[in-house]
Amino acid sequence: MSGPARLVGDGVGNPANAYALRDAAAMFGVPCLFRDSRGLAAQWSAERAGGQLDLLDTAELMDGVTPIVAVENAPGATSVFDTALPAGHPSVVVGNERLGVRPDALRAAARCVQIPMPGRGVNTLNVASAAAVALHYLLGATGRRPVRGGQPGSRRPAVLLLGPDDHVEAGSTLRSAAAFGWQTVGLDDRAKVWWDTPRPVRAEARAAARSHRNPLRVVPVPADGPVPYRRVVVAGLDVDGPALHRVALTGGPDTLLVIPDERSPGLDEDLRRLGPRVEYARVEVPAVGFGYRYRLVAAIVLAEVARQLGAGTAAGRSGTPARHGLRYDSALDLVDVPGTELVTPAELATY
Ligand SMILES: C[S@@+](CC[C@H](N)C(=O)[O-])C[C@H]1O[C@@H](n2cnc3c(N)ncnc32)[C@H](O)[C@@H]1O
Repeated sequence: MSGPARLVGDGVGNPANAYALRDAAAMFGVPCLFRDSRGLAAQWSAERAGGQLDLLDTAELMDGVTPIVAVENAPGATSVFDTALPAGHPSVVVGNERLGVRPDALRAAARCVQIPMPGRGVNTLNVASAAAVALHYLLGATGRRPVRGGQPGSRRPAVLLLGPDDHVEAGSTLRSAAAFGWQTVGLDDRAKVWWDTPRPVRAEARAAARSHRNPLRVVPVPADGPVPYRRVVVAGLDVDGPALHRVALTGGPDTLLVIPDERSPGLDEDLRRLGPRVEYARVEVPAVGFGYRYRLVAAIVLAEVARQLGAGTAAGRSGTPARHGLRYDSALDLVDVPGTELVTPAELATY
């Protein structure tokens, strides 16, 4: 097996997510395999994926030798920020979009790690974004800045998504921002992927953002307007600067964190229009020559801010067993028995 680990998509159902998972694995130079229980093989397009579907079955996943690291927002999971990868080329397993990692893999896991989600409303990442964040912390990011105490809210920087070139990548990143606790995000929508889009594009982008339960405010930031910030930090793969986790990202609202879509043409502009002091923070990945995907880079950047903020989870601090108070929608079915009063999950959540 090549690489320090392998990424396994367990029951992933949406082929677009599976292609994104392959891109996440490629960023970290690890193989990507799938345990298919949701008809992925039947929907696979080698052309769109950029390669064949590599499958493994249950016996191969649970061979009794290869440790499993389940990446799941599950009770008892430890924070991915503080968990080391076990020896023995482990399988880093992410789960189905709705159902998560399958119970047999969770039971067999040597470790279960969660990505702390301080946001309210949306409390999970897109599966490929979660894989990229998990691989980033499990496989590297050594020499991290220590987490400082204090009020995470007052130290949270403003965020600008600069020119995302694809509506699903943009939507998925807005979901990540909300899950990591931002309430407002600036968007320079020069590629017109979020506003003024045809209806089907708009619907796909909003679905990727989980707009139905994502309270995030998305604020248009014009390309030419004056936006005076004391400090601007531009984070990306191709920027020239220290490693992301060595740069202070928690300067509060007069610090602007810019996440450019590095594939977009015309982004070599002078960013001093955003503020007099521009710094750069590089997302370090071990591989070269992989397909760029905005949501993956952005999720890593946002996760690192959350780590430095020490923001923990909405239900409890990271590292403590997670309390999944509001998971009724996936745990209960509604029954319509005469004389029964029905209550929706949304109503329950207000109690
Ligand atoms: C959209 S999530 C599944 C949602 C999950 N069933 C729920 O309702 O909480 C899809 C997969 O992404 C990964 N994932 C997403 N957010 C995560 C987080 N905060 N911590 C760990 N894994 C996460 C997990 O592998 C999960 O199985």
